[in-house]
Amino acid sequence: MKLLVINGPNINMLGIREPDIYGKETYKNLIDTVKVYAENKGIEIEFYQSNHEGDLVDKIQWAYKRIDGIIINPAAYTHTSVAILDAVKSVNIPTVEVHISDVSAREDFRQISYIRSACVKTISGHSINGYTEAVDFLTEYLGNEN
Ligand code: DQA
Repeated sequence: MKLLVINGPNINMLGIREPDIYGKETYKNLIDTVKVYAENKGIEIEFYQSNHEGDLVDKIQWAYKRIDGIIINPAAYTHTSVAILDAVKSVNIPTVEVHISDVSAREDFRQISYIRSACVKTISGHSINGYTEAVDFLTEYLGNEN
């Protein structure tokens, strides 16, 4: 099983950006933690981060026929991007939406998620643990699918 973790704009600034909201763990900590967690379960995992919407679309398309499950935090593009929604629908790969903060308790403009309707699950507000929970969810989901 091969998983792809995609992070959108400003997630590379974790640990520096608004630590009261996003915590003190850095993006490198996130990758190290999730990589070790997945690999200990025998899962191949790779990571991609971009601040650019089209690059995120390209990476989702790249995943077609290469990746079994996607974990994505589209960050601010969650609330604006039809292109990322369409990309996830195009490749038809089981996808989990993750948010570090609890978006449901934040500003009105964060209450819309374009991508959510294309995802098999949403995990929000569990800090970087949300990514390891997504690994567990996809492991079970993909196991049950076959
Ligand atoms: C976020 C929540 C988004 O509203 C925000 O724009 C982000 C990060 C989160 O992980 O909590 O950049 O996706």
